[in-house]
Amino acid sequence: MQSPHNATQTMRVHRIEWAAEGTIIIDLRNPDGSPVTPFTAGAHIELLMPSIGITRAYSLANDPAETHRYVLGVVLEPKSRGGSRFLHRELRVGDTIDVQGPHNHFPLDDTNDHSVLIAGGIGVTPILTMAHRLKAMGKSFEFHFAVRDLSRAAFLDEVKAVCGDRLHLHIDAEVGRPLNIPGIVAKAPAHSHFYCCGPLPMLHAYEEATKDLPDDNVHLEYFKAPPPAVGGGAFEVEIASTGEVFTIPPEKTILEVLSDAGAYFGSSCAEGVCGSCECKVLKGEPDHRDSVLTARQKATNKVMMICVSRAKSERLLIDVD
Ligand code: FES
Repeated sequence: MQSPHNATQTMRVHRIEWAAEGTIIIDLRNPDGSPVTPFTAGAHIELLMPSIGITRAYSLANDPAETHRYVLGVVLEPKSRGGSRFLHRELRVGDTIDVQGPHNHFPLDDTNDHSVLIAGGIGVTPILTMAHRLKAMGKSFEFHFAVRDLSRAAFLDEVKAVCGDRLHLHIDAEVGRPLNIPGIVAKAPAHSHFYCCGPLPMLHAYEEATKDLPDDNVHLEYFKAPPPAVGGGAFEVEIASTGEVFTIPPEKTILEVLSDAGAYFGSSCAEGVCGSCECKVLKGEPDHRDSVLTARQKATNKVMMICVSRAKSERLLIDVD
């Protein structure tokens, strides 16, 4: 039951460059020089690292109009379970790496009049693709880029070049406080669409500042996983196509139980951020814990991310095809 989203392509590491403190840029191309699968602003790809048993999702950072490469920004996470450490310390120019995607769970609505783009740290990557797209379309936008200090401002030169005077750079160390997101939201023109990607405190402040706006106008992407997906009570999952029933214990995710039993073979980030494990929910009430679905999508309970989400009902009937 391989997910159709999970076709794998092998790409060549064309360039690795130091971008900012603890951050590298990785430029991936097809080994034969052919065009890459097109992507839209806000998209990501998954990197498969089978030697360490890890797949990780990374937002694309380059102009979506480019057809010859994918560019990623990767921060070396101090508590890395191996993904960013492998990319920083093991991956070399000329190596090949398997890639899935691109997928997009953070799409840009480029039909609205004004977009407010807010990025924190390496969360700049998907936001930068949006700025490229909006600029190419001649659309109105503003770009708020917050970093702890200038040494950590990856992609800053490119952001400046794309945004010009639409860029509002916020350096925590100089200002002595975090970005004033409520102030940004309050000043934005009516009917603006808001996009935010950054660390958890920024996303929480953003969610609070935009909570009274229509869901459709508020977009966000986590680049770090939200709290863990285990705990709570056990529940059952029934697979619609086979009728098999699995008990999900508190210490395991649905994905882990189904994968161990050979009932599901697709997955990616395993952290609720990439969307690759999306399954249809035919019956029962999920306990959504992912960062992919919007509040509105979660409320419909039609799909769920089985890598992190659990159940509020005693049993879920899901479709894993
Ligand atoms: S595997 Fe990435 S959201 Fe579930």
